[in-house]
Amino acid sequence: MGLDIASLFAERETERYALHVRHLNEQMVRVLRTIGFDVAFRSGSGQYLYDRNDVRYLDLMSGWGVFAVGRNHPDVRDALKNVLDSDLPNLVQMDVSALAGILAERLLLRVPHLEKVFFTNSGTESVEAALKFARAATGRPTILYCDHAFHGLSYGSLSLMGDDVFRRGFEPLLPDCRQVPFNDLDALERALATRTVAAFIVEPIQGKGVNMPQDGYLAGALELCRRHGALFIADEIQTGLGRTGRFLAVEHWGVEPDMVLLSKSLSGGHVPVGAVLTRKWIFDKVFDRMDRAVVHGSTFAKNDLAMAAGLATLDILQSERLIENAERTGARLLAAFQGMADRHELVKSARGKGLMIGIEFGPPRSLRLKASWNALETVSSGLFCQLIIIPLFKNHRILSQVAGHGIHTVKLLPSLVISDADCDWIERAFEAVIADAHRVPGAVWSLGKTLLGHTMKARAAG
Ligand SMILES: Cc1ncc(COP(=O)(O)O)c(C=O)c1O
Repeated sequence: MGLDIASLFAERETERYALHVRHLNEQMVRVLRTIGFDVAFRSGSGQYLYDRNDVRYLDLMSGWGVFAVGRNHPDVRDALKNVLDSDLPNLVQMDVSALAGILAERLLLRVPHLEKVFFTNSGTESVEAALKFARAATGRPTILYCDHAFHGLSYGSLSLMGDDVFRRGFEPLLPDCRQVPFNDLDALERALATRTVAAFIVEPIQGKGVNMPQDGYLAGALELCRRHGALFIADEIQTGLGRTGRFLAVEHWGVEPDMVLLSKSLSGGHVPVGAVLTRKWIFDKVFDRMDRAVVHGSTFAKNDLAMAAGLATLDILQSERLIENAERTGARLLAAFQGMADRHELVKSARGKGLMIGIEFGPPRSLRLKASWNALETVSSGLFCQLIIIPLFKNHRILSQVAGHGIHTVKLLPSLVISDADCDWIERAFEAVIADAHRVPGAVWSLGKTLLGHTMKARAAG
């Protein structure tokens, strides 16, 4: 028998934090310890995680959105085992992959207005490919992106970043990338009118903040791109593959982009993979001669494990009717959160589609709450959301996240397999934590004081 990974994990998992402090990102360990998330998860199944004491947690992050079909789905596992047991001629390079052909065919069946697929290994690599394709296809330099956008952290994607925190220290970035305000068609038209624009790239629903497009925005943007000879790229890396209750989020608004970017869930949660779905003429401009057959690509793209994970994922989405489940459970949760917004003054709004939901908090009206809110927010904008996600985790065993830096939105991005019992769990937990946050003094605000102390100390040390 070769290396026994399960035994190795069992033997050494107690050292995980020490190993990371010593050899990896120490700051991440500090974050986990400060917010009390250092519970040492030991296993995962479907929408749940289990800690060292076998306590079950409901995971509303799904690994930043990769576990659409749930963790460790048996069918994904079988597909991967099947690849390993089949002695396939993986990554020959001077051959073409049968599994890649089949996965491309099945993806395009779901997005019939596009004709070609380019596979990558991650989300950001899909964005990089799309940028190169857009420039090659149009012969123009400029890429337009939106404020609050997040398209990844490699240099091309970082050049399309709507959040300065991620850019700081890494400049200079790619030239000719211009930001336009999200949901502003006039600004987009002005930028497009320069006729130097290769493409406009947009997340149909923005991940940072869960910002919704106004009705008509995406269709209007596509129309403007057409008129001014620019390509429309939909970054569906987070929203795609059923997350919003449609295969692609753009389907909610009847929009047919020139390129669609996928990744995350296509992996089945196991094997990194990404895909650019595109029009044939764009693809043909890039790969235009035999001596340019490998002008863009990557060694591991189209590897058999990734392709099998993608095929299994598409199968499960359909056989378990997960897109329908995302639409139904998402609508139920959104209605429940909107009810909370009506009842609780700290909740400003709830928005989203399917199982991509944001709950936005904001300054209260009543004086007693206002003083506590201001004390926290003047020191660190966005800190309030920690007062929600920490008790959700500690008291209710729910793993959730804040939707970005300095943002007052808590985000739900669960696996698409969640049940009505899970929705009951979520609604009960949020209601209890939000109700607690309206009590001053109370447990939530004393946690606020502790966090403020940590923030001040960290600043003094830094
Ligand atoms: C909309 C969007 N685009 C691109 C990316 C980058 O993907 P990756 O982290 O796989 O590079 C992300 C990741 O969160 C994303 O949400």
